[in-house]
Amino acid sequence: MQFIKLGNTNEKLSKLGIGTWKLGSDKDKAIKIIKETLSNGINLVDTAQMYQNEEIVGEAIQGENVFLATKVSPHNFHERDILRSCSESLQKLKIKNIDLYQLHWPNPSVKISETLKAMEKLVDEGKIRYIGVSNFSISELEEAMSSMKKYEIVSNQIEYSVLTRDIGDSLSEFCRKNKISIIAYSPLGSGKLFEEKYKEMFSLLHEIGSKYDKTPTQVALNWLLQKENLCAIPKFSSREHLLENLDSLDWKLKQNDIKTIDDFGQSKKPLSSMLNPVTKRMAPLWSNLMTRNEKNRINNSEDKKEKD
Ligand SMILES: NC(=O)c1ccc[n+]([C@@H]2O[C@H](COP(=O)([O-])OP(=O)(O)OC[C@H]3O[C@@H](n4cnc5c(N)ncnc54)[C@H](OP(=O)(O)O)[C@@H]3O)[C@@H](O)[C@H]2O)c1
Repeated sequence: MQFIKLGNTNEKLSKLGIGTWKLGSDKDKAIKIIKETLSNGINLVDTAQMYQNEEIVGEAIQGENVFLATKVSPHNFHERDILRSCSESLQKLKIKNIDLYQLHWPNPSVKISETLKAMEKLVDEGKIRYIGVSNFSISELEEAMSSMKKYEIVSNQIEYSVLTRDIGDSLSEFCRKNKISIIAYSPLGSGKLFEEKYKEMFSLLHEIGSKYDKTPTQVALNWLLQKENLCAIPKFSSREHLLENLDSLDWKLKQNDIKTIDDFGQSKKPLSSMLNPVTKRMAPLWSNLMTRNEKNRINNSEDKKEKD
């Protein structure tokens, strides 16, 4: 297995991890594939409060050598909500601390300084080990970094694949310079790579792969995994896909083939190339959910008063 160094830490993350979004509808199958993944040398498992599968992931990782990454949802970015969310995730995951706790999306309705103060408190309390972000643009990263008092942002999880590759050289370069690792999500375009719409890209990968005796998926992942300061977290739910994905490592596409893929152009605009506008668009959603948080809090305290 190849590893990358996480941010400015000495932590080693496997180049290939497993993403668990939509993994969990079949609990036994999910647990089986996560365990099998870990027994094949992968240590990075990514989940999120939003995926509602932390209990299943928790069951799968018990007693395993794992680097567990989860994310707190943007509507929980006020201090008290972060602290509560972390406790709930720890309970569901049945672990003493979370290796990497990530802010899932920027939320402009909450001051990043308040959010990160809470995150730093969680590190001090030993509940989380490292602080990461996800879907952050350069300007959002800069603001976040300048709000940190004691610790550093170690990673930025962003969409990155042959289909959605234009993450902007400047974001990659910014992360490299500032020792922020990139965790590439949806590295198979959320499965779109296999759809008719993208058949031209798929044929190209197939053609290149035939020279190496590799599949289009392996070529797509190898193209991504050759990049420095980056690891990728495909979601897969079968042993067959696990083994195929593992075989995207330990060999290298030649430069001319990388260039051919580069020159093909990207097929789909990635969210990360328009992070600030997307974040603005999503802000009302987070605000509505935050209002719900507030209502729940009031209802709970009224319930408590009645009981008292
Ligand atoms: N931070 C964020 O905002 C964010 C957003 C999206 C995703 N993520 C993370 O990134 C992870 C991965 O992204 P994703 O789930 O969107 O999509 P993805 O990993 O790009 O694609 C997943 C799809 O590819 C299929 N697949 C995997 N390996 C394959 C293979 N060897 N051959 C053929 N098909 C294969 C899977 O099928 P099977 O399941 O049948 O194997 C699944 O349908 C998520 O699980 C999540 O952890 C983060």
